[in-house]
Amino acid sequence: MSKGQKLLDWVDARFPLTSMLKEHVTEYYAPKNFNFWYFFGSLALLVLVMQLLTGIFLTMNYMPDASLVPGTKMSVAFSSVEYIMRDVSGGWIIRYMHSTGASMFFIVVYLHMFRGLIYGSYKQPRELVWIFGMLIFLCLMAEAFLGYLLPWGQMSFWGAQVIVNLFSSIPVIGPDLSVFIRGDFVVSGATLNRFFALHVIAVPLVLLALVVAHLMALHEVGSNNPDGVEIKALKDPETHLPLDGIPFHPYYTVKDVLGVAVFLIVFSAIVFFMPDMGGYFLEANNFFPADPLKTPPHIAPVWYFTPFYAILRAVPSFLGTQVWGVLAMGAAVVLIAFLPWLDRSPIKSVRYRGPKFKIMLTLFVIAFVGLGILGALPPTDLRTFVARTLSVIYFVFFLGMPFYTKNDVGRTPVPSRVTESTTRGKVLFFVLWAVLIVAAAVFAKHI
Ligand code: HEM
Repeated sequence: MSKGQKLLDWVDARFPLTSMLKEHVTEYYAPKNFNFWYFFGSLALLVLVMQLLTGIFLTMNYMPDASLVPGTKMSVAFSSVEYIMRDVSGGWIIRYMHSTGASMFFIVVYLHMFRGLIYGSYKQPRELVWIFGMLIFLCLMAEAFLGYLLPWGQMSFWGAQVIVNLFSSIPVIGPDLSVFIRGDFVVSGATLNRFFALHVIAVPLVLLALVVAHLMALHEVGSNNPDGVEIKALKDPETHLPLDGIPFHPYYTVKDVLGVAVFLIVFSAIVFFMPDMGGYFLEANNFFPADPLKTPPHIAPVWYFTPFYAILRAVPSFLGTQVWGVLAMGAAVVLIAFLPWLDRSPIKSVRYRGPKFKIMLTLFVIAFVGLGILGALPPTDLRTFVARTLSVIYFVFFLGMPFYTKNDVGRTPVPSRVTESTTRGKVLFFVLWAVLIVAAAVFAKHI
């Protein structure tokens, strides 16, 4: 017996290393028809690790201190970020990896969630995988919002001001709640200190625990796939292994390496050539130190919050309170968690669903992207009208789902075994995405 094997036996007698690796990697049977959409789970893991590592290094030089550097109008927090960018060796790349990572996290997670939507991955028996996913999404939004305050730039300060003020419109508890969140009557040094504590330790801990729970729940029931066929239903009578399954390692570890390589090319291109992404990843106003006496002319959240922000703005105040917009924005997020119970179709994958779901899904994508664009722009009468229309579509997609999914069957019946994706499917995929991107660009330019 080799020394390595001896060491492994020694460990295995004390810790279930080999059995865990078998259960979750080498003998975890995943459907053999995973496609492009299945890259995003592993990419989300990659970005999570990257954010944690770059975050640790940023914390070594960042100072959560809102007091002014003597003789300047710059806070210690703002200047510590400048120090990281200019003087700490490798600091600029660590910071840009972290700021780019935040946006890439949302791109990856939105695509990951969209995959769940098109293939019905939230349906029985994966409801808890979805619920853990939604809790992760909430944590991720909290984490991004908290982190954005830390550089203590103009958008950090005023963005936090706007968002925390939203809480004060909640009846009865609102005003006290917003003071509790800020730790003061206005956004101040106390707010910065608590946001720092929450951003670097509290939320990441919860996030990590939720990701573990997400994967444990997934491995308990097994992965869904683009056909929405349960591979566990059909097993080899001798080996008892799913006929349409392949071991995660080496098949999907190798496949995921391709996803990681492409992702890292895109990621590096952004970090090295356009870290602010034209103001979408890092807003221009945040390169100015926070000034409580000077409100920026146009306050908009970072792009990943804009669909929900557009819904908030689209709802008019009523009975002298703006709480309806806040409620609508909250409902827009929470409703996603209820998909397993709103969708009443027995068919999982969009491939075999009827026309009603396909039309509603298309309208939903248009509404979500449209709201995202509108939420980033200053409001005008036309924009408010369009945002209201798109908000209605957004809610009809969810609230109408129990009705339009009930008897909505496609022309092709759900197969009993998984299938290969067709060339027609691939061409359709590229055409649809190209149309969406071009349409979004034209809309953003002319609205
Ligand atoms: C930090 C964020 C997240 C990480 C690291 C993560 C990780 C993963 C991984 C590694 C998988 C298995 C590989 C795959 O199917 O792509 C997976 C599956 C899944 N995730 Fe996530 N996830 C995250 C967020 C979310 C969110 C926000 C949702 C939805 C609300 C979600 C819903 C799902 C579902 C439904 C599956 C099963 C998909 C299927 O089997 O078709 N995840 N996740």
